[in-house]
Amino acid sequence: MKFKTLTEFIIEKQAEYPQASGELSRLLSDIGIAAKFVNREVNRAGLGDVMGYAGEVNVQGEEQKKLDVYANDQFIAALKSGGQCCAIGSEENEEIIILDNDVSRHGKYVVAMDPLDGSSNIESNVSIGTLFSIYRRRTVRGNAQLEDFLQPGRNLVAAGYVIYGSSTMLVYTTGYGVNGFTLDPSVGLFILSHPDMKYPEKCNIYSINEANYFSFPEGVRKYIHYCQEEDAATNRPYSTRYIGSMVADIHRNIIRGGIFLYPGTTKSKKGKLRLLYECCPVAFLAEQAGGKASDGFRRILDIQPAMLHERSPIFVGPVKMVEQAENLMRLYSSEFKPD
Ligand code: AHG
Ligand code: MN
Ligand code: MN
Repeated sequence: MKFKTLTEFIIEKQAEYPQASGELSRLLSDIGIAAKFVNREVNRAGLGDVMGYAGEVNVQGEEQKKLDVYANDQFIAALKSGGQCCAIGSEENEEIIILDNDVSRHGKYVVAMDPLDGSSNIESNVSIGTLFSIYRRRTVRGNAQLEDFLQPGRNLVAAGYVIYGSSTMLVYTTGYGVNGFTLDPSVGLFILSHPDMKYPEKCNIYSINEANYFSFPEGVRKYIHYCQEEDAATNRPYSTRYIGSMVADIHRNIIRGGIFLYPGTTKSKKGKLRLLYECCPVAFLAEQAGGKASDGFRRILDIQPAMLHERSPIFVGPVKMVEQAENLMRLYSSEFKPD
């Protein structure tokens, strides 16, 4: 039996870059470790009522925490003990978290993350995830600053997600393709199962919360119609698939071939999803998988963020599908064009 673990893979890749110091490798391994702890809790989430989790005090006297708070704490703890990351920007925390213990203070990297994405799906046993973006810090001395996070996605050093699904997988990129690792829970190892992930040739899925149809830009409405029209040559009508956990929708769409859209609406022009830790990691992965990610007008990875929790519309998937949606946005929804 021949297999490669996440740790082996990371070490092998590091050896290909003689100038690499090993710090990024360590950081990625730490994310893998935190993911295993979160996976364990996610797996037994359904026992909450029976076993008295969430809001209860356990036998050690520790208060049981909500899963997204638990995930946040686990990732923060792992990054803190690793020492390569000097600050974290998390969906769960208004401000950046400075890691200023003796080791972390000198870390070269900052991490933006959504510790538990799709958390409203937990109670119905639907796949959820973690998203992360790794940037090199920009400031050179003292504590990390907000400006270390306010970098366009094209500066990303690495990004990825963990999907807690029927299997748990860690999928990441450092800008040299996308690789996916499946957790073998019996031995607690992530094993390389999806090397060099690419969008397939034939793509016919579209993923969007169509209930918002009447507040979508006209360009998006036209695109939905385009997806529903019959045209054998272009595989239409497409199929709708929408889980409501971005990680799960993106993961399926890379594997099966499809576009994911979370556009702006008349009420909220920038949509719902967060630029730094939802849109950017997904955009980096999509591009590395041969796809494209846009806010309807601009490449997601070129957007200069102004705030930690800034939102952005996103159209992400195979190049042709995203370009078709962009064309319709340009034609029919120029009022949504960012200034
Ligand atoms: P989170 O659980 O981190 O708040 O994110 C939920 C997000 C994302 O995962 C998903 O794609 C989207 O919300 C679904 O939103 P709608 O319910 O508006 O479709
Ligand atoms: Mn989320
Ligand atoms: Mn979340």
